[in-house]
Amino acid sequence: MSVPIIQAPMAGTSTPALAAAVCEAGGLGSIAIGAVAAAEAEQMISRARSLTDRPFNVNVFCHRPARPNPAVEAAWINRLTERYHAFGGRPPAELREIYTSFIVDDAMLEVILRQRPSVVSFHFGLPPAAVVAALRAIGTVLLSTVTSVAEAELARVVGVDALVAQGYEAGGHRGVFDPDAADDRLTTAALVRLLVQRQPLPVIAAGGVMDGAGIAAMLSLGAAAVQMGTAFIGCPESTADAGFRNALASDAAFHTTMTRVISGRPARCLPNAFTGWGEGIASADVPDYPIAYDAGKALNAAAKAAGDFGYGAQWAGQGAPLARALPAAELMRALAQELSDAGWRPDAGMASTPSGTQR
Ligand SMILES: Cc1cc2nc3c(=O)[nH]c(=O)nc-3n(C[C@H](O)[C@H](O)[C@H](O)COP(=O)(O)O)c2cc1C
Repeated sequence: MSVPIIQAPMAGTSTPALAAAVCEAGGLGSIAIGAVAAAEAEQMISRARSLTDRPFNVNVFCHRPARPNPAVEAAWINRLTERYHAFGGRPPAELREIYTSFIVDDAMLEVILRQRPSVVSFHFGLPPAAVVAALRAIGTVLLSTVTSVAEAELARVVGVDALVAQGYEAGGHRGVFDPDAADDRLTTAALVRLLVQRQPLPVIAAGGVMDGAGIAAMLSLGAAAVQMGTAFIGCPESTADAGFRNALASDAAFHTTMTRVISGRPARCLPNAFTGWGEGIASADVPDYPIAYDAGKALNAAAKAAGDFGYGAQWAGQGAPLARALPAAELMRALAQELSDAGWRPDAGMASTPSGTQR
């Protein structure tokens, strides 16, 4: 990496073309395979390989496998039925666990061991120690999203190489290991400082970083790099649909909200009709992740077919109003220039760092 920028994996939004463009521009691109099965993941990795010779990151979801609860799921379908009907659709008869967690997905592990990506990152938790050992044995650098000092300690003990410190302002799913535990909702800056001071692994800042000044600020706090998601949604290389792009460019970007009604896990997104509908619903009434997502995706499909974009998973962070709709190569050039203007040099880093900063 010649610029300390990781393009965040964004399941359903980022693409191999986006990752490759970021790699070619000197950053680290990411392929998000958390929401696809092993065969499709392998195709995505091959596609990225065909577009760049540079290293890239492959990101997997390590959530606790879903705990089905037929009563909660039936009540959820009932609650949503009127919404499906409003769009001329029909609610699903039952809800499925639409993604397999990497922690129990042997086929996905085989793909990764065969493809040997340079970097693998974990979201929502950690795989078992044996899987970590297998990945380390092929020389893969391992990253883990963490949202607290306690999660960072678990990641360090299992043997990851660096931590992605995800603040509460970040777009997309909150990477908390246990979505039902108390959440201190640490900001990116606070979490970066806590981790830099308390543990030895390099820290990658994620959440609300949108431009060179933001990157420079995180590097000054001791981060080794940043991971940026929302900043890349507007790139033509992303699969964001017209509704998502328009919403990102609208006043909604100023009012991102954390909700679990779309997928079953807390995630930050642009406010829309779905998040408005979900306000005030108790967590216990929402089916487990990703069972709730089955209902959410079906509702979005029905709404979109009727021309309504208000039910999509429009994940975005608090920096959303700062997003730019530029091709990835141009965005990377602009970020590198802004970072340089802020005093960062490829060989020397930031001109000054505060005391208590390790690196
Ligand atoms: C549209 C979108 C999808 C995301 N999907 C993933 C994902 O598949 N895996 C993951 O580890 N993080 C995912 N994230 C979270 C990012 O890794 C990162 O924490 C976040 O984008 C940082 O905050 P920012 O959006 O303010 O830059 C996603 C974020 C967004 C905006």
